[in-house]
Amino acid sequence: MRGFLPEPVSRATVADLLSLARMAPSGANLQPGEFHVLTGDALANLTGKLDEAMTVGQPMVSEYSYFPEPMPARLKARQQAAGFALYDALGIAKRDVKARREQFQRNYQFFDAPVGIVVSIQRDMGKGCFMDLGMALMAFFLAAESRGLGATGIGALANYADVVHEALALEPSEMVVCGIALGKPDPTQAVNNCRTEREPLENYAWFKGFDD
Ligand SMILES: Cc1cc2nc3c(=O)[nH]c(=O)nc-3n(C[C@H](O)[C@H](O)[C@H](O)COP(=O)(O)O)c2cc1C
Repeated sequence: MRGFLPEPVSRATVADLLSLARMAPSGANLQPGEFHVLTGDALANLTGKLDEAMTVGQPMVSEYSYFPEPMPARLKARQQAAGFALYDALGIAKRDVKARREQFQRNYQFFDAPVGIVVSIQRDMGKGCFMDLGMALMAFFLAAESRGLGATGIGALANYADVVHEALALEPSEMVVCGIALGKPDPTQAVNNCRTEREPLENYAWFKGFDD
């Protein structure tokens, strides 16, 4: 979901979703991850700074590496397919670099969602803790959907971790992992018609010892 209605989402609702998300299991029950929940002026302040950073071409410095570097060709193909699905839904031509850039900039406006969440993790946590946080994020997305809301992850937020740190006065020990845009989905927005595909099962699962 990347298109939202302007209807506000209450603090109680987000608190409920986060409490449900926190029920996700985690190794040794460490429950990694912190959530900075913003709406109204607090969200506008952050998006204003992020938007300006992108508009002036401030260099992007991610706090961690999300994707393999270099990206293998078969993964690059998946990344491109996901991007093209999004541009197709929006009617953006593959060669329209300006429109693609504008869509990318929408990340830093939290897609105009009424609630924006900055997800962070303590810098010294191991890779396993990212897995735990991912489970909590999935639980959050499902809980949001069960309440008629929609959400999307915004990994692009980590590209401007320095801006986020300054705007929210985050502790230096916190690493910006991603953002979440949360709100009531707007069914009239074409961007929400984006549909992606998945690899066939035989490309990623191998079964042994079964009789059937
Ligand atoms: C942690 C996370 C971060 C993401 N970051 C972004 C992002 O920065 N911008 C964006 O447009 N979509 C982002 N997405 C959405 C993915 O691109 C999307 O989930 C993927 O292409 C599969 O599409 P589907 O969710 O519609 O099945 C993110 C998703 C997750 C789970």
